[in-house]
Amino acid sequence: MKDVHEEVKNYYGKELTVSEDLKTNACCTMEEPAEYIKAALANIHDEVMAKYYGCGLAIPSKLEGLRILDLGSGSGRDCFILSQLVGQNGEVIGVDMTDEQLEVANRHIDYHTKQFGYNRSNVRFIKGNIESLETLNLAPQSFDLIISNCVINLAKDKAKVLADTYRLLKPGGEMYFSDVYSDRRISQKLQDDPMLWGECLSGALYWNDFLRMARTAGFTDPRSVKNNPITIENKEVEEKCGDIKFFSVTYRLWKIDGLEDECEDYGQAVAYKGTIKNNISSFDLDDHHNFPKNKIMTVCGNTYKMLYDTRLAEHFEFYGSWNTHYGIFEGCGGAMPFSTENGETAGCC
Ligand SMILES: C[S@@+](CC[C@H](N)C(=O)[O-])C[C@H]1O[C@@H](n2cnc3c(N)ncnc32)[C@H](O)[C@@H]1O
Repeated sequence: MKDVHEEVKNYYGKELTVSEDLKTNACCTMEEPAEYIKAALANIHDEVMAKYYGCGLAIPSKLEGLRILDLGSGSGRDCFILSQLVGQNGEVIGVDMTDEQLEVANRHIDYHTKQFGYNRSNVRFIKGNIESLETLNLAPQSFDLIISNCVINLAKDKAKVLADTYRLLKPGGEMYFSDVYSDRRISQKLQDDPMLWGECLSGALYWNDFLRMARTAGFTDPRSVKNNPITIENKEVEEKCGDIKFFSVTYRLWKIDGLEDECEDYGQAVAYKGTIKNNISSFDLDDHHNFPKNKIMTVCGNTYKMLYDTRLAEHFEFYGSWNTHYGIFEGCGGAMPFSTENGETAGCC
């Protein structure tokens, strides 16, 4: 491809006009959202919904009052969901480089401000390249949360996006994002195919390269939240891709000092108080940590920190200290963390 950014702008600005124009099901969320997300979606303008091209649900819990950045915000669907969940005093900023997408998002700001009963908008959209975030006048360490939905795969310099994301997050903040990954590295020939790249397939990272890249950027313990196999559903594209398997995965990457590269056991435990809105009976930190209300559960040092050093802290009771190390936390392994069958994971703390 001559210029990836021009090809991507052309794909999302001109080639596609609505979600149904996609040639595969890679940029398409399949999961059923929770009831409170469905209620938020019901308030969103049809035109914004029609131009949604996400591949997962990049909306974590406990968002009241947060300052959030959406990388590759498209027509703005996720920003307008977040706008409702952060409340009038939160702030949501979407960045996208495609004029046609930004035009739709901007044109519907007033509609959504009224729809949500706000006296001023808490959402704005900026034109920009997520590979040059330093040019956008965004202060370092100023965001509680950075989300992205099916975009990083389209970037050329993914390592730079992750490094800049780390820089923009406050300590204790997180990147929570859905994207496409592959079970092996993708050949240059496939990467040079603009349609495969635009469909969010040939720019996908091999999952283990992604984990390495995330750790290098400072996100020492990437946690997968949800994964689904992508079935493509297009004979011609399937033939081009051969044996490569693709997954849509939602990761949460915490910016927390002192996370370790392995899960270590300090004899610590936590109990969830049941106080996070819309998570009354239990809380899912990731795909292998479900905390039922009031149940005391042993955790590794990293999980303890993800709860203690973040916005989640007030919702947990904490037990134990860092005084004694009991060795590696049991249950960790290095296999591919995604199942090709039913979305279940091998599970690793
Ligand atoms: C698959 S769509 C997803 C859009 C949106 N997140 C959604 O869920 O509907 C990809 C979007 O990312 C934007 N994009 C891709 N690469 C980008 C980059 N390097 N900088 C800024 N935006 C980018 C495209 O313009 C497009 O709007």
